[in-house]
Amino acid sequence: MISLIVAMDRKGGIGIRNAMPWKIPGELKQFKALTLNHSVVMGRKTYESIGHPLVQRTNYVVTTNPLWKVDGVTTIHDFKEFLKRHASSSETVFVIGGAQVFEAALPYVSTMFISLVEGDYVCDTFFPELDWSHFKAIDVKIFEGFIQTTYERIP
Ligand SMILES: NC(=O)c1ccc[n+]([C@@H]2O[C@H](COP(=O)([O-])OP(=O)(O)OC[C@H]3O[C@@H](n4cnc5c(N)ncnc54)[C@H](OP(=O)(O)O)[C@@H]3O)[C@@H](O)[C@H]2O)c1
Repeated sequence: MISLIVAMDRKGGIGIRNAMPWKIPGELKQFKALTLNHSVVMGRKTYESIGHPLVQRTNYVVTTNPLWKVDGVTTIHDFKEFLKRHASSSETVFVIGGAQVFEAALPYVSTMFISLVEGDYVCDTFFPELDWSHFKAIDVKIFEGFIQTTYERIP
C-alpha cells in the first residue's frame, strides 16, 4: 500500500530553495508518529535537504544517478516498478516528497495525510495538480499551526 504524507500551505507550497518553508515542531512530531517503523521514499533532492537517513525507518531514495549511494539508504532507479510492486503489498510505504516524487507516485497512492499549515509562505516548489474527486476525506485532526486531513482513494 502506498501512502503519501505532505505539509503544504493554502497555495500548495511545499518547499523553498530545497528546504522546508516553515518550522512547525508539532508537524514534524506528527510526521514522525505516522512514519516510524515504516518505509519512507523520497526524491534525491529531499534526501540531500534532510542530509541523513530517517531513524527507525527503512529509507528509499529515488534517483536517476547509478552512482548515487549512501549507507543506510536503498536506492530506487525504476520508481514505477517500485510503486507497482508496493501498491499491491500489505506493507505501508510512505512517499514523503518532494514535488517530483509526489507527482510520479500519485496514481499509485491509496491514502494521503495532508497537513495544511497556517500562514503565507514564499515557496518555489508546489504539490502537483491533483483530481481531488478521486479522494474522500475520512479524518480531520486540528493541531497548533496546522490541520491534518486523511484522504482515501475512492474505489
Ligand atoms: N512540505 C513537505 O511536506 C515536503 C516534503 C518533502 C520535500 N519538500 C520540499 O520539496 C523540495 C524538493 O522537491 P523537488 O521536487 O525539487 O525534488 P525531489 O522530488 O525531492 O527530488 C527530485 C529528484 O528525485 C529523483 N527523481 C524524481 N523522480 C524520479 C523518477 N521517476 N525516477 C528516478 N529518479 C527520480 C531525481 O534525482 P536525480 O537528479 O538524482 O536523478 C530528481 O532530481 C524541497 O524544498 C523540500 O524541502 C517538502
